[in-house]
Amino acid sequence: MSEMPSRVELRPLTLSDQDEFCSLVRASTELHQPWMQLPATAEEFQAWMRRFDDGANLGFLIRIKETGAAAGMVNINSIIRGRYQGASLGYAAFAPSAGRGYITEGLRLTLRHAFTDLRLHRLEANIQPGNKASLAVAERLGFRCEGLSPAYLYIDGAWRDHERWSITAPEPWTSDPSLPAI
Ligand SMILES: CC(C)(COP(=O)(O)OP(=O)(O)OC[C@H]1O[C@@H](n2cnc3c(N)ncnc32)[C@H](O)[C@@H]1OP(=O)(O)O)[C@@H](O)C(=O)NCCC(=O)NCCS
Repeated sequence: MSEMPSRVELRPLTLSDQDEFCSLVRASTELHQPWMQLPATAEEFQAWMRRFDDGANLGFLIRIKETGAAAGMVNINSIIRGRYQGASLGYAAFAPSAGRGYITEGLRLTLRHAFTDLRLHRLEANIQPGNKASLAVAERLGFRCEGLSPAYLYIDGAWRDHERWSITAPEPWTSDPSLPAI
């Protein structure tokens, strides 16, 4: 089946993205609150980037091909191999280009990268019940809701209930060498 060419591309987040990232985060405060807290200063950004040092978390910018502008970000967080072969996604749009389908397209590329290149088997998105925009994105991408976990993540100063959405790799899945043989 042929796929629509994507308007966006995934670019690994690097230290050189600092000023652009922080100013887009500052411009997106209203969109992100109370769901997502991202670094908005150089100090916060540099501290935050350390999460990518050991390979358990991967960070990307979703860039609009035509202009190069960053439409949003996506992290593949807490990658666990072994019998799990899964990770959880964190994502946010940046206000100047929100609501135009770029995040949905960027996440579609993320799923393909995670399932094909990284050979992950499962991706989760943990979403607060009131976060309608994020629930709509997950549903559009084919994630299924598996239930509600009370007090699941510490967000905006408190332990918040989260709906647990997930998607598994399409069959046939090419297994990662780290999968136990038996
Ligand atoms: C959740 C969030 C990332 C969604 O971002 P977004 O920019 O609205 O996402 P998209 O643009 O991909 O999708 C939304 C809309 O684009 C629409 N759209 C507009 N133009 C489009 C086009 N040309 N092609 C496809 N879709 C298009 C979609 O139909 C959808 O519209 P709808 O509201 O009418 O259903 C954003 O609201 C956000 O950053 N929230 C704060 C952070 C957050 O909650 N992160 C997730 C934590 S779990």
